[in-house]
Amino acid sequence: MLEKYGHGGDWITAEERFGRPPEGWLDYSANMNPFGPPASVERVFRDHWRDIARYPDPAVRALRAKLARTYRIPADAILVGNGAAELIDLAVRGLKPRSALLAQPSFKEYGDALSKAGVPIREWRLDAERDFSAELGNVGPNRYDRRRAAQAESLADAPNLPADGLAAEAASAAIRDLSEGDVVFLGHPNNPTGRLVPDETIRRLREGPADLLLDEAFMDFVEDEEERSLIREAAESERLVVFRSMTKFYAIPGIRLGFLVAHPRTVAELTELQPPWSVNFLAQRIGEAVLDETGYAERTRAWLREEKPWLADRLSALGIRVCPGEVNYLLGELPEEAGLTVLELQDRLGRRGILVRDASLFPGLTERHFRMAVRLREENGRFLRELEQALNEGGGRR
Ligand SMILES: Cc1ncc(COP(=O)(O)O)c(C=O)c1O
Repeated sequence: MLEKYGHGGDWITAEERFGRPPEGWLDYSANMNPFGPPASVERVFRDHWRDIARYPDPAVRALRAKLARTYRIPADAILVGNGAAELIDLAVRGLKPRSALLAQPSFKEYGDALSKAGVPIREWRLDAERDFSAELGNVGPNRYDRRRAAQAESLADAPNLPADGLAAEAASAAIRDLSEGDVVFLGHPNNPTGRLVPDETIRRLREGPADLLLDEAFMDFVEDEEERSLIREAAESERLVVFRSMTKFYAIPGIRLGFLVAHPRTVAELTELQPPWSVNFLAQRIGEAVLDETGYAERTRAWLREEKPWLADRLSALGIRVCPGEVNYLLGELPEEAGLTVLELQDRLGRRGILVRDASLFPGLTERHFRMAVRLREENGRFLRELEQALNEGGGRR
């Protein structure tokens, strides 16, 4: 298994397994901007490396001020962290939820953070038939056995409910049962499906008594980011926290940088829990520098607008069912006729120098699901050729 530590992009495990050095991989298993770190990142390293002889600003003032100007929110509604992953963990520890409703499949760290904090989790299984959209069903008295759904351990396992929209209806019920002190965790857009949370679901959740934790780690890739992001609402609400990552869009996962937006009172409480100097000097300067990169952002959106549908169409032509996501990665399902599991696919592609993410490890997905990044045209061309060969290899589909 390449996801020994729970995530894609683990090129050391890949090297151990396939004997290929890190620079030899075409990595489709982590979802970074394929343009790589923008030029300003190199300038920060060149001009500021000597400054690491000093401690970083413990309050991350300059970067918070710049984020505040960029997103038009108050600086005291922002907490910067050593990657969004740190802040997800921190928020759970700080909010100490009574219980959590967790949409699945979703990013592993939500469940891990909740489990580490001892928070009981109820799962909301997103429906494959609805392409994993976090829609809530309309719960009518004749179509729904609320009591039995509430008793079911996993919402998707709720017994004897109508087959159509089962998860959505059970989720509606679970949401109706939420009370103060509960949290709902959602990826917006979600990983690994790439789906945004429907406006209607957000509206209904925000009307309820539970806190909503929205992970917008990939929101910068979304075409109508401004309209879909809840950053500004989070800055004013004591019941909404938004997480943002800077590592994916700016291709700097090795530097670790993310921030959360919440009501200033929540931010003040969470700041108390964060270890001092969590965000190193270079990360702070890099964060400031990349926020000025308007050309890079435009280039990225233009590339994705063209490349994602192109890749998705060709994957479909290979018989792969593609989830209609909004971001820079795609969730694919191998056709049954291929007679191939994702582990076998990962192995066949691994021998060809290509990494994909085994998505069967996400609750609610099957051994035929895999996740792949969208990369540049030339790389995608090679990826598709190798994928087709891997599908056809020894006893494959065609
Ligand atoms: C959905 C999602 N949220 C958060 C993170 C963590 O991002 P960061 O690199 O900022 O810690 C990841 C990383 O893969 C992710 O996929």
